[in-house]
Amino acid sequence: MPITHVEKIWMDGELVPWENAQIHVLSHAVHYGSGVFEGIRAYETARGPAVWRLDEHLKRLFRSAKLYHIEIPFSLEALTQGTKDVISANGLESCYIRPLVLRGYGEMGVNPLDAPVDVAIAVWPWGAYLGEEALEQGVRIKISSWRRNNQNSLPAAAKATGQYINSVLAKVESLKAGYDEAVMLNEAGYVTDGSGENVFVVRDGIVETPPISAGCLDGITRDSVITLARDLGFEVREQNLVRTDLYNADEAFFTGTAAEITPIREVDDRVVGEGHRGPVTKELQGAFFAATKGEDERYLSWLTFVND
Ligand SMILES: Cc1ncc(COP(=O)(O)O)c(C=O)c1O
Repeated sequence: MPITHVEKIWMDGELVPWENAQIHVLSHAVHYGSGVFEGIRAYETARGPAVWRLDEHLKRLFRSAKLYHIEIPFSLEALTQGTKDVISANGLESCYIRPLVLRGYGEMGVNPLDAPVDVAIAVWPWGAYLGEEALEQGVRIKISSWRRNNQNSLPAAAKATGQYINSVLAKVESLKAGYDEAVMLNEAGYVTDGSGENVFVVRDGIVETPPISAGCLDGITRDSVITLARDLGFEVREQNLVRTDLYNADEAFFTGTAAEITPIREVDDRVVGEGHRGPVTKELQGAFFAATKGEDERYLSWLTFVND
């Protein structure tokens, strides 16, 4: 999806013009994938723009950085303020937010420890990641022939830029085969996640999703949906799923910051359930979007209001 150009990007503590937010071609991260990042959304609410679960996203950013021995030269509070500032400076009511911490220019060779650390927070308006109509009609997916990174090769707990080349392989394979998205299995054959989404199924009214130990990202939307589903009275189970569990589900859907809650209508050319968004998925979408818009008081603590 093309990026919509806005005015400013927060870079190393300052708001700079969009076109000035640049790094050198010899930056360590460009060569070795030594960056960590987050994907966050801000939603329009009656009290102005509000960032969805900002604290959890920034904490995950710090955990990703720690894993790679990257010391972020800003505090969590400074990045919270930077996120609010860059949304305000661009006059956005809702947007996607991309904090990025990367090993910069000055050192070559695999050892990153002496390379400087650069930090940016970019924002731009971004619609439904898998298409507006996908939120209702659902997407067609393929089980990837590419296995998800083994956790002892590249840890699923980190959102590191270089790790995403695994997702890129799966995504491109699925697109070239005519599908919308891929789901990767781990080496044991259990479902992990999509190229940028967690996966859920609904069977006999029970909501199921792979455990983090399967090797999927500890998704923040996944966590939100588990809470919302339980609060709606559904039983939620974190348990291993095999590919046929997706084929035979009554409903299946993706969760993710970009994809929000997107129904899955076909897996490997097998129609899932009725072949369109099911009632549980619809109910969860309703609860999720009410919460993100600040319309459900129970989840107000998940919102950081930009104008407060
Ligand atoms: C591989 C992968 N799985 C799952 C997710 C969903 O995570 P979240 O809900 O925190 O955006 C993402 C997106 O960040 C992802 O890249």
